[in-house]
Formats: sequence, C-alpha cells, structure tokens
Amino acid sequence: MKKSKRTKKSNFWRIKHRKDQFFKKSKTLGYRSRASFKLLELNKKFKIIKKNSYLLDLGSSPGSWSQIASKIITTGKILSIDIKKMEPIKNVKFLNCDIFDQSTKDKITFFFRGQLDVIISDMAANTTGNKSLDSIRTNQLCSEVLSLSTKILKPKGVLLSKLFMGDDFIEIKNLAKSIFKEVDFFKPESSRNESKETYLHCKSFKTL
Ligand SMILES: C[S@@+](CC[C@H](N)C(=O)[O-])C[C@H]1O[C@@H](n2cnc3c(N)ncnc32)[C@H](O)[C@@H]1O
Repeated sequence: MKKSKRTKKSNFWRIKHRKDQFFKKSKTLGYRSRASFKLLELNKKFKIIKKNSYLLDLGSSPGSWSQIASKIITTGKILSIDIKKMEPIKNVKFLNCDIFDQSTKDKITFFFRGQLDVIISDMAANTTGNKSLDSIRTNQLCSEVLSLSTKILKPKGVLLSKLFMGDDFIEIKNLAKSIFKEVDFFKPESSRNESKETYLHCKSFKTL
C-alpha cells in the first residue's frame, strides 16, 4: 500500500476510534481500554467472577480485564500473564512471559495450588494484515488454552476465551464440548460489529 493511502486509512481508524462510545466511556471511567466493557458484559451474562474467585487472566496487557477483575475480587487471587509488559494493578500478580512455556505453567500451578476457579483469556496473535491467517492463529491460542485448562482448572471451573468465527470454529466448539459439560458463545455489544471475534464460555469438566 502506498504511504498516502496508508495514512488515509489510519486517519479513518483514528477518527472512528475517537467517535466510539465505548472508547469515550473507557476514558471517562479510567479504564485502560474499551476491552473492559467486553468483560463487564460477559460477566453480567455468565456470572463468572465472584468476590472470592481464584482467577487467571491470559493475554492481560494493557490490563483492562485485570482492572475489572480486581474491582470484583476482594478475597480471592488474580494472576495475569502476557508476553507484553503491563503496568501494575493493585492485588494483581503479573508475569511477563509466554503462557505456553513450561516454566509459566509451573508458576501457575505453584500460585494457585489446585484452587483455580476461572480462566479468562483475551489472547490474540499479533496481526499480520491477513485476516484469515490472524483468525487461525488466534484460534490456535484458544485451542491450546482449552487443553491447558484440563491441567490447571478446578473440576467445576470456568473458562472464558476469545475466538474468531473462522473455518476452524466448529473444530474448536467440538473440542470444547469434548472437555466441558456446558459450552456457550456470546458476542458482547462492545465487540466491534465488523470483527469476527466472539467469546467461548465453558463450565465444569465432563467426568471421564
Ligand atoms: C487483545 S490483547 C488483550 C487485552 C486485555 N484483555 C485487556 O483487557 O487489556 C491480546 C494480548 O494477548 C497477548 N498474547 C498473545 N499471545 C500470548 C502468549 N503466548 N502468552 C501470553 N500473552 C499472549 C498479547 O501480547 C496481547 O497483549
């Protein structure tokens, strides 16, 4: 793309972003990004986070979801993980690492000691400009989180994960259904209409 076209396109997005009601509201309320509203809507629908929850936030940077979780959780524990840095949040332990490294998994196990109630994952792969490839790569993260959940979550625990409505959607839905008793999908109003993003909500492991 020529430089002038790229500039026009980025200006278009900047103006659109500024007009966005969730963006404006997030600034007013001191949230780190408009993503806060997605978790607020998801939590309203699924009642995921309780005041005593032990919660793991995957792909937490810049910290909007952790910020919301830290306001609800008063007697539980929060561990947030991202390969990008995150500014500190009161009562949130942050690890700057890759969730799929064995050493990270060991740290999660040590932190929660078998008491993990909730995993929230808003992880997304770095964008390449190719929407279909980006969707596949983010959905791979979702599949990997599903597998990881079987090793770290309590039997009646909850997993909430971002995913995209791509060709691999049914495959992921089937994987989730093979692991959990309850599986639902929900696209919050604050998720942009033009985005194929949705959220997977799973609860309670199936007994083998
Ligand atoms: C959409 S952002 C998350 C926004 C966040 N939920 C919030 O509310 O501020 C997606 C994040 O996933 C992180 N991510 C992607 N792959 C990861 C991995 N393997 N391990 C940890 N974090 C990862 C990215 O660095 C990025 O910060």
